[in-house]
Amino acid sequence: MNHEIALSVNGRAEQVTVPASMTLLELLRERLHLTGTKEACGIGECGACTVLLDGKPVTSCLVLAVEADGHEVRTIEGEATDGGLSALQQAFIDAGAVQCGFCTPGMILSARALLERTPNPSDEQIVEAIAGNLCRCTGYESILRAIRLAADRHGREAGEERRLPEKDDRAAVHSNGGDAGAG
Ligand code: FES
Ligand code: FES
Repeated sequence: MNHEIALSVNGRAEQVTVPASMTLLELLRERLHLTGTKEACGIGECGACTVLLDGKPVTSCLVLAVEADGHEVRTIEGEATDGGLSALQQAFIDAGAVQCGFCTPGMILSARALLERTPNPSDEQIVEAIAGNLCRCTGYESILRAIRLAADRHGREAGEERRLPEKDDRAAVHSNGGDAGAG
């Protein structure tokens, strides 16, 4: 039996008719041609197929497409903005964390969910966030470093952004004060 479902994928409204048994992973890869989401184990154990469903990481091989009806899905294709890599993707490159590459989309989405709810996570929180994403190649060191790097860079930028208005405010106060004094 087929169902018509409507969902948002990377901010774009999609309306599709899907069989009841179709997984979200199949919908993304085969119908919507978003092949950045990878299939490995197919049984919810490796995390390669991780996407965000309403901002929470899920293994899309275990979610039925019909369960995504009315919800918001984000995949690795939604990570880059304005045609450029996101800061998180860049941090993965800079830290040498794109290892086999196959696991990377799922890792990045788990990290994205973590950084959105906890912008400055502890090492333990980072480890916990990617616990469902298996890496069998060179280990997790550079992946942890990448997520820490992204968090630190974001923190520095946020700090700079917070300081800028203060400077402007001070300038405005001085210039107002000067005007008032001159008047
Ligand atoms: S392919 Fe979904 S968890 Fe492995
Ligand atoms: S990053 Fe894919 S197995 Fe390690």
